[in-house]
Amino acid sequence: MERGNFGSKIGAVLAAAGSAVGLGNIWRFPTECGSNGGAAFILIYILCVLLLAMPVMVAEFVIGRASRSNTVGSYRVLAPGKPWVVSGFLGVLGGFMVLSYYSVVAGWTLDYAFESISGGLLAHTDYGAVFNDFVSSPWRPVVFLGIFLFVTHCVVAAGVEKGIERFSKVLMPLLLLIIFVLIGFSISMPNASTGISFLLKPDFSKVTKDVILSAMGQAFFTLSVGIGTLATYASYFNKETKLVKTALGVCTIDTMVAVSAGFIIFPALFSVGVDADSGPGLVFITLPYVFNEAFGNMPVLEYIFSALFYVLLVLAALTSTISMHEIGTAYIHETFKLTRPKAAMVVTAICLTFGIICSLSFGLWKEVTVMGMTFFDLFDFITAKFLMPLGGLLICTFVGWDMNKKLVASELNSRFTPLLMILFSWVAPIGIGIIFVYGLISG
Ligand code: PFF
Repeated sequence: MERGNFGSKIGAVLAAAGSAVGLGNIWRFPTECGSNGGAAFILIYILCVLLLAMPVMVAEFVIGRASRSNTVGSYRVLAPGKPWVVSGFLGVLGGFMVLSYYSVVAGWTLDYAFESISGGLLAHTDYGAVFNDFVSSPWRPVVFLGIFLFVTHCVVAAGVEKGIERFSKVLMPLLLLIIFVLIGFSISMPNASTGISFLLKPDFSKVTKDVILSAMGQAFFTLSVGIGTLATYASYFNKETKLVKTALGVCTIDTMVAVSAGFIIFPALFSVGVDADSGPGLVFITLPYVFNEAFGNMPVLEYIFSALFYVLLVLAALTSTISMHEIGTAYIHETFKLTRPKAAMVVTAICLTFGIICSLSFGLWKEVTVMGMTFFDLFDFITAKFLMPLGGLLICTFVGWDMNKKLVASELNSRFTPLLMILFSWVAPIGIGIIFVYGLISG
């Protein structure tokens, strides 16, 4: 079967960076950073990116490009008859689950983008009530979830080069541009310097075991590693794409966007005297309030700032949902020989069904719980705390210990190969093992 390919190296980097940069950077990172002490958290997070998550990313690239197959097929090519294929199946399952619940939050961002563009958001003052009414409604978030999945579906169905690559090449630069404009707004607000020093001056007295573990979890989620997303993308890389350089590029872009999101949010928060530690509601409840306080007497600026911010969230989420969708689409397309659009249809239908279930857990099915968690929390728990760390551990262990050494070296083609082998074989599996065990115990 003729396989898709990224037409250019830059297209490959931007698609992988598009997968990594998402709600994890702009929504989850500031929340985690705010509740875990700012600069000290950022330093530990960067260490986790370098020592744990980046090795998994490189290992995924190696597996994907060496096999030129989807995440299940890759183990059938590289280790036929061995049980590593389980890691591929866990990846496909993880892709379905992440896409289902992530699209719910992505749908919220779409609603907020529409509301801020139409001016509806600015007409309110009680943002907590607005958010709670919205997420608990049985139909509105479901409609936005459906629209989001439909757009994701159309891009994926259009193919690797015509859909994913073309889209990423336009969206990623646009996203970076919006980020720069927003930072400019934010740091020129009165008193912004308090927020800036929160981000730059580490206070190590705040560092506890929990802070380190949160930083590791964040590194994993934000780089999209552990469930074969990037292995799938790497199967479309051409031979000239340098894997280690690409991984470094993606990690740099991702970390810059996360830190930039901090520079957009914290100076604005401190400027109006809002607590940095306001949890997951930060982006949907606290920020509209901040926009309102900051620009209340300049409605045009308030309008531009909030509209740009939510459009930014939508774009970032979209390039990530596309990559999650591709895991299942590539698997079904190549395994069951369905056409790409049909394979994509199957993924969209399954994720819409589970997405609706996750969405309803904020309203109608709030009381329905499994192991004490709503469906939304359960999906988040199983993927972020179980499937991604376990997958990352298996991926590094496979490349470090079992995959043909010559093939690994020729794929890496880098002077860092000996160092990377130590990271794959020892550092990453042990470090990830700690998160994994802790995640399961602390539930
Ligand atoms: N890295 C994405 C983000 O930071 O929002 C989330 C993500 C994408 C997780 C793709 C998993 C995945 F397979």
